[in-house]
Amino acid sequence: MKREFRAPTPPMGWNSWNTFYDQIDEGLVRATADAMVEQGLRDAGYEYLIVDDCWALKERDTRGNLAPDPAKFPGGMAALADYVHARGLKLGLYACCGVRTCAGYPGSFEHEFEDAAQFARWGVDYLKYDNCYRPESIPSQALYRRMRMALDCSGREIALAACQWGTEDVHRWIRSTGAVSYRSTVDIQDSWASIERIALSQIENQCYAGPGCYNDMDMLVVGMNGRGVNPETCVGGCTPEEYRTHFALWAMLGAPLILGCDLRALDEETRALLTNPHLIAIDQDPACRSCQRISVYANPDAFVLAKPLWDGSCALGFFNFSDVAANVTLNFWELGLPAASGWGLSFVDCFSGEALGVKREFFAPTVPAHGGRVYRCAPARP
Ligand code: GAL
Repeated sequence: MKREFRAPTPPMGWNSWNTFYDQIDEGLVRATADAMVEQGLRDAGYEYLIVDDCWALKERDTRGNLAPDPAKFPGGMAALADYVHARGLKLGLYACCGVRTCAGYPGSFEHEFEDAAQFARWGVDYLKYDNCYRPESIPSQALYRRMRMALDCSGREIALAACQWGTEDVHRWIRSTGAVSYRSTVDIQDSWASIERIALSQIENQCYAGPGCYNDMDMLVVGMNGRGVNPETCVGGCTPEEYRTHFALWAMLGAPLILGCDLRALDEETRALLTNPHLIAIDQDPACRSCQRISVYANPDAFVLAKPLWDGSCALGFFNFSDVAANVTLNFWELGLPAASGWGLSFVDCFSGEALGVKREFFAPTVPAHGGRVYRCAPARP
């Protein structure tokens, strides 16, 4: 069977879990599909609409198949997929490699091939595959490999997104399973502390990111503003500055951009952030090169991330994780551009789109507490 290259850049979409937990139904999914189109998110690159855990009945049907809960999805999954596809989007669904999903619904262990065939019949395009209630005797890599095989035999192109929380040295073997992404962290929460913790852990993991299989730092909490019914995720909310930093970090780190807020109620500021073309272009850069933390001599809370881009330019992110404003300094020699070369760097501010001209030798923007500034830069003569 012909295998396609399933994810030339990090997947982008929306997932129900962060905000809606088990309170999902087809009305929500349809309204979210409509919102993705109307708010310009689809045109900005978000394509997957992913229904997370709690969509199924608590038991398989008499033929042993997974069945959607008719109280939540009375029209069935195939009709939902048609609705989503008609809007130029793709449908994602959640399943689990153990005997139960994390929320206690039927798992796919020893049902992989029937379930994959069922997902294909429904028109599913993306499978988030979790790791709860797995028999201890079987390593999870065997089960991810098995589901990938089952999807390959299903007759439909379905991307496999592994959800393994960064355990069992997943970064060492996940690429060999054929997954397009792997959760490399614990679950995110709607708080600055959680964003900071996940980002810092993933900066060290950047050497494992690359084309075709991406470090998934979990769904974004941008725009949640403390709202939602998921008791694990909804722990207070972040400031607008913190949400901007969060989005900038996920883009710099080349993570999948899977939104987690209520898209039916987007304010203009959030919409503008989530569709920011400069930041999305950095995340979706065709070269998919990982970023590196530089300015090693600086304050560990105030640092620069540099990511080479396909066209010879680079993205520079100046981040301040401390609780007070700071000047975050980059000396260009640290990037390989000594003053004696006679070259400087042109700067375009990715938040405002403004061209700032050519800088020489160093750049040191003042970055507010928990803030980030991102620029697209290219070598230039001053
Ligand atoms: C967790 C996973 C979450 C969500 C949840 C559903 O394991 O990390 O993203 O999918 O299961 O029960």
